[in-house]
Amino acid sequence: MAQIKQIIESCKSQNWLNYQSIFWKGETLFKGGRDEELIKRFNFIRLEDIKDKIVVDIGCNIGSSCLLAVENGAKKAYGFDIEPGLIKTAQEIANELKANCEYIVADYGKLQEKVGDTIFCFAVDSYLDTEILAQNLKQYDVVYFETHGNRTNAPAYDIPDEIKREFLKQQYLGMVGTNNKRTFRLTK
Ligand SMILES: C[S@@+](CC[C@H](N)C(=O)[O-])C[C@H]1O[C@@H](n2cnc3c(N)ncnc32)[C@H](O)[C@@H]1O
Repeated sequence: MAQIKQIIESCKSQNWLNYQSIFWKGETLFKGGRDEELIKRFNFIRLEDIKDKIVVDIGCNIGSSCLLAVENGAKKAYGFDIEPGLIKTAQEIANELKANCEYIVADYGKLQEKVGDTIFCFAVDSYLDTEILAQNLKQYDVVYFETHGNRTNAPAYDIPDEIKREFLKQQYLGMVGTNNKRTFRLTK
């Protein structure tokens, strides 16, 4: 869809341009650096965790995972990102596709209120105070977490200890892409 490409190309964000691909109803509407791997990561998610639920995505970028969530049955998706340009672009894309997504500028390095049922925290923990991030995530019953911090020199990134303490069940779901980010389903 030419309109989506135009919206993304006019994005005013200084960072993260062309990071995410945008998918909708089986089509790739925009190709970014993280492409098919975003679909593979999304396919790790249990449908029961999103169907008829309110899904929250922190560090949502231009909204790729929120769109996949509503397309797969979420009642609504909220996306939060610290960059106003990304949030504006994400909202324009969702409006164009008539997707029930609402994007809000927020700093998840600070305490935030619970606004949904299931939360995605993908490739963002390295930017945040992990003690505060743990407080934010523990408000949710189910967390999907893609690691993004090399804390131990282990061959793959790990979940921060502060978060491990809050979620005793850490189910490893797999790794997508060419780097060492791993995806987990965290529950208490
Ligand atoms: C590596 S990208 C990951 C994007 C997306 N979560 C994904 O995995 O496709 C990191 C994103 O986190 C956002 N971000 C960085 N610091 C943040 C903060 N303090 N609060 C909310 N979002 C933040 C960035 O603007 C960027 O969009």
